[in-house]
Amino acid sequence: MTHQIEEIETFSFDDIHKAEAKIIVSRYPEGRQASAVLPLLDLAQRQNAGWLSTAAMNYVADFLEMPAIRVYEVASFYTMYNLKPVGKYFVQVCTTTPCALRGCERILETCREELGIEVGETTLDNKFTLQEVECLGACVNAPMMQIGDDYYEDLDPESTKAVLNALKKDEVPKPGPQSERNGSEPAGGLTTLTSKTGAKV
Ligand code: FES
Repeated sequence: MTHQIEEIETFSFDDIHKAEAKIIVSRYPEGRQASAVLPLLDLAQRQNAGWLSTAAMNYVADFLEMPAIRVYEVASFYTMYNLKPVGKYFVQVCTTTPCALRGCERILETCREELGIEVGETTLDNKFTLQEVECLGACVNAPMMQIGDDYYEDLDPESTKAVLNALKKDEVPKPGPQSERNGSEPAGGLTTLTSKTGAKV
């Protein structure tokens, strides 16, 4: 059944995404336009509600005049590309070691409970998809999760619930640390570079 849906599905860039795609392709030398496959797949995914259908990948292949199989290879290698539909809010909870040491299991458990789904599932209203992912490069603010393009960091079960409940109402919570600290400063306050003007020698 899924195969039949994909057969009749179509995809093409809208005017905005097509203009952006042309700018991206123009950055590469003549004959090397296939090098633009990563950003073009990203554009296609953004236009296509967060996932890459076969039609979207075929369109990118045609756009870049490259074999479709090469595009499938790229899209299936990188986990940032979704090959299945995802909910409006794609919740990716990091469970790699630094986040694990800082309690990511409780964050994942909170997401499961609040959303009523397991990892890899989407809520019935298509609003949330929950995924477990490897390090997202924000270990200094562990534990953390990515939702859409935003990072929510320094999480605990309460702040995780607050973020998800805001999104349920389509309110966008402030990204970044959900604790008191500023950025990735030490949790107990600055220990170095405490002078505003800098030390004079
Ligand atoms: S381990 Fe979670 S962000 Fe790096």
